[in-house]
Amino acid sequence: MPKVLVLPGDGIGVEVTNVSLDILNIIGEKHNIDFEFETELFGGSSIDEHGIPITNEVIEKAKSADAVLMGAVGGPKWENLAHENKPESGLLALRKELDAFANLRPAIVYPALADASTLKREVVEGVDIMVVRELTGGIYFGRPRGIEKLKDGQEKGFNTLSYTTLEIERIARVAFDIARKRNKKLTSIDKANVLEVMQLWRTTVTRIGETEYPDVELEHLYVDNAAMQLIRRPKSFDVMLAGNMFGDIISDEAAQLTGSLGMLPSASIGEGAIYEPVHGSAPDIAGQNMANPIAMILTSAMMLKYSFDLDQPARVIEEAVERVLEKGFRTADIYHEGMIKLGCKEMGEEIAREIKDYKETPLV
Ligand code: IPM
Ligand code: MN
Repeated sequence: MPKVLVLPGDGIGVEVTNVSLDILNIIGEKHNIDFEFETELFGGSSIDEHGIPITNEVIEKAKSADAVLMGAVGGPKWENLAHENKPESGLLALRKELDAFANLRPAIVYPALADASTLKREVVEGVDIMVVRELTGGIYFGRPRGIEKLKDGQEKGFNTLSYTTLEIERIARVAFDIARKRNKKLTSIDKANVLEVMQLWRTTVTRIGETEYPDVELEHLYVDNAAMQLIRRPKSFDVMLAGNMFGDIISDEAAQLTGSLGMLPSASIGEGAIYEPVHGSAPDIAGQNMANPIAMILTSAMMLKYSFDLDQPARVIEEAVERVLEKGFRTADIYHEGMIKLGCKEMGEEIAREIKDYKETPLV
């Protein structure tokens, strides 16, 4: 019985999580999977109740669950808290505690949505990229860090960007393994022309490639050039590997190729597994039934695939999403004239309908 800890979080996280739980329940019925869902507070909602973004109890529950399914955290209400009390710190703590070091962020441009991108259709049509982002190391966690007072009355803020060989090797293997199952092409992103830590990144990734994955083509790009090439020739990328901060930036950029952050799922795997959409809590539209639930729905499909080996039910969800888009249903973020505008809940209902109607095509 798959045990899932559900952390809806804040803002639109709550709405999109509700919709995706409905979808998972339908999938469960259809495929005889008995999900056990337990819901807990996380982020701002946990701060309001307990004063901290995640309690130890919730961390323990996350560790003992088979997977964590989370919505989004944060919002203006909690923005001015001390660093360690912010919702974002709860998210980082959860990732670290579960050692969820590999963040997989697929960016796919659906044919029906190619016009939703801010780039020209011919540039983005057919884009299918997997960003593999290191998630529990690098500058997000490096020490020393802080803000200190200087003698002359100024302040100095500082963080540390460091990676060990082992940290680089393990994330590189995840990226190479994924590339091997796709088009056998990996682009590793660094800043080896300036930073020693990134020289180590480049030589380590090169060594893992040469010794363990000679069949995968490896390209190295400096992060500035990568950011540029990603909007210039997005179709030439297959798997992109980056450290924590560069991966954070590049994955938002890859997301925008697809037209909306509201479409992008992600999986963070390691010892434990966290499934979260790439988008944030969007406080400006929260509670208005306006959010796009597709990122969250595709996130739950990733959970089925990566945590429970349920590839076929995951595919059913993905295809239902594609069909709903082809029929012209759109939430506000991807809407354009001539399409049918739906709220968050109604979009979920359309996808649910497709799943219920889904008939496996018999093999001939
Ligand atoms: C993301 C987010 C987080 C990150 C924030 C909310 C801490 O931007 O998941 O990409 O920087 O990792
Ligand atoms: Mn981000």
